[in-house]
Amino acid sequence: MSLLLVAQNRDMKPFRDEILEIDSNIDVEIWPAVSKPERVQFAVAWNHPKQVFRQYPNLKAISSLGAGVDHLIPDESIPQQVRLTRVVVPSLKEQMCDFVLTSALNLIRNTQAYHTQQQRADWIPHQHLPKEEMTVGIMGMGELGSAVASRLQVNGFRVCGWSRSKKEIDGIDTYDNGQLDDFLNKTHILVCLLPLTSQTDGILDLDLFKKLGKPAFLINAARGEHLVEEDLIYALDTGLINHAVLDVFTEEPLPGSHPFWGRKKITITPHIASLTDPKEAASLIVENYKRLLSGMELLHEVDRERGY
Ligand code: NAP
Ligand code: GLV
Repeated sequence: MSLLLVAQNRDMKPFRDEILEIDSNIDVEIWPAVSKPERVQFAVAWNHPKQVFRQYPNLKAISSLGAGVDHLIPDESIPQQVRLTRVVVPSLKEQMCDFVLTSALNLIRNTQAYHTQQQRADWIPHQHLPKEEMTVGIMGMGELGSAVASRLQVNGFRVCGWSRSKKEIDGIDTYDNGQLDDFLNKTHILVCLLPLTSQTDGILDLDLFKKLGKPAFLINAARGEHLVEEDLIYALDTGLINHAVLDVFTEEPLPGSHPFWGRKKITITPHIASLTDPKEAASLIVENYKRLLSGMELLHEVDRERGY
């Protein structure tokens, strides 16, 4: 029995080392150096080469190395009986809370304008928006979205949340799938924390931007494919949206020639909102590996039909 780590353009050695630190008896291999493919029963994957899992006839489960599974779900070469899991750990939530809170505060405190002014030695004070009058609307009230909602609320923002099933959270207005327009009308700072599925692909489009309250801002920390890029540029140019903070992109790294780079009304971060910590992830991976071998239920198993 072995546990295989598969990733492109990512160093998997820290993950292997942390797994071995927990249990040195686990046979851990890093793709593509796999000595006995037939021994692989559990894999951990991030940005894997398509079809790669065909090489492991006894594979029973794959864990995403992150919270998202949109890299695994569309891969039809993964047999239906192979179970999928994902990483849900405290530090992923904590980092995402920090990222969204920082971004929201920067938006209402005109941080971008002051960066630009400093380069010209310009002393120009601006009125800032009172946070108690700004409603942050969170699309996706799952593990990350609900943690972010609570963090913003205790920091003085008004918060509402939208998800497939309606949530009950003290002090937060919640909306379900059928109430998207009501949710958008209330929202000034829209935060996308949805999983990427066939239903959410391209959801951040012009039609949606038009329904937001005024002033409107966007923070996308989910996946690049949620956003219709040309619609965002149009919305920024026409004043429908004041500023966008983007951590994720359809093509990553974002190509140097991409029009987003040159825009003052877009803040770009290189997919760093929340990074998987090798130590925390290793502990969950080892737990699920042992559960699989013992025939027990897996933690944070993904519903392949639903797509997240
Ligand atoms: P999660 O726990 O699965 O939560 C997903 C939420 O989205 C749930 O509330 C779900 O509703 C809702 N949802 C799904 N489809 C929907 C639809 N069609 N309409 C309305 N709501 C819908 O996911 P998570 O752990 O919070 O992670 C969310 C995403 O964040 C990940 O998939 C990943 O893409 C992204 N992420 C980004 C970074 C980064 O560094 N930028 C880091 C980690 C994760 P229900 O509650 O009703 O099921
Ligand atoms: C990062 O994007 C993740 O899905 O954990």
